Amino acid sequence: MNASASDRLAACISLSDLSALAQENIEHTAWDYYRSGAWDETTLARNESAWRELLIHARGMVDVSQRTSATTLLGRAISCPLLSAPTAMQKMAHRDGELATARACCAARVPMCLSSLSTTSLEEVRAATTEPLWMQIYISKDRGFTRALVQRAESAGIEAFAVTADTPVWGVRERDMRNGFRVPDGMHIVNLERAGEPTGHAGVGIGGALSWTIDASLTWKDVELLAASTTRPILVKGLCRPDDVAAAFDSGAQGVWISNHGGRQLDGAPATADVLAKCALAARGRGCTIVDGGVRRGIDVLRALALGADAVAVGRPILWGLGAGGEQGATRALEILRSEFDLAMALAGVRSVEEIRALGADLVRAR
Ligand code: FNR
Ligand code: LAC
Repeated sequence: MNASASDRLAACISLSDLSALAQENIEHTAWDYYRSGAWDETTLARNESAWRELLIHARGMVDVSQRTSATTLLGRAISCPLLSAPTAMQKMAHRDGELATARACCAARVPMCLSSLSTTSLEEVRAATTEPLWMQIYISKDRGFTRALVQRAESAGIEAFAVTADTPVWGVRERDMRNGFRVPDGMHIVNLERAGEPTGHAGVGIGGALSWTIDASLTWKDVELLAASTTRPILVKGLCRPDDVAAAFDSGAQGVWISNHGGRQLDGAPATADVLAKCALAARGRGCTIVDGGVRRGIDVLRALALGADAVAVGRPILWGLGAGGEQGATRALEILRSEFDLAMALAGVRSVEEIRALGADLVRAR
């Protein structure tokens, strides 16, 4: 990175600054793919605005001189309750793609969840971080392929799997249709390549390009089978109902990931901030709760923990970091969120993740 690029990165003080810098650097059809939500993008917008409707009732005169954001997730110590959500094709944001994300997560001491639609092989990404590495799984029409992929990932040292539940079919992102979006030439969905089969270079939009990778006939039975086929923990990603949270644990999951896919699947779905409290309650005592969607400030992380999350994932903010400056940019994105969260704790009169979770609605509520 040359001097002026690193100066511009250093001048980014918020995630929104990183987004503006990334937009200048990322090719426009890739930018549209990253930013889009489904149809009218009402859920995309609400994901961000619903956090802001939650008020933080700070405690005064608490000694916050000693505080820590450190916590544990699935039995591993992490520096703060953050992780990188799986987002497809990170090489469109920066040539180092998923490797840059892995190194940034390693430096920040937080987990990364790799997309199964990554442009870097899971083995290479595993070699780039000593911190927890999870992998997101789409159970494809070819169940044998998915089983083999999970075995391969397990042998490579992937520590947990997030099975995506909100993609029976692909949501419609209209910009991608208009742009004729497809996997760019020279990039490959490397973990899903099958001999003689095109993966993403034909068809228009994510639906045309990657249709075989998902399956509209999935049920909880498939989660049960997947959970039985691996020794690693399974999380179910893309839930927004307490009854589905219960079903995930009944099917063998060790965690749930409350998400609407960043507003990219069902437009009209509630924001994750709207449903998190009830879902986390349904998960209590059964396993961990992750949430993502529209988290853009450290105060949103605090809000999510108070509503019952164990950790918070971010999707687009990492892509913005990558676009703004590769590994250093992704590091910057994580550092902005971590330091904002630390300050938010101090300002709210709390000293630890456990304290925020214990205070719950006493600390964060709609009024
Ligand atoms: C995603 N997401 C996603 N989810 C998943 O399970 N597998 C995937 O391959 C992808 N790919 C993907 C690409 C892009 C460009 C985006 C923006 C999102 C969803 C992702 O994991 C996460 O749920 C959302 O990104 C969270 O919302 P924010 O943080 O982007 O607002
Ligand atoms: C997306 C898929 C890849 O949201 O999850 O584009």
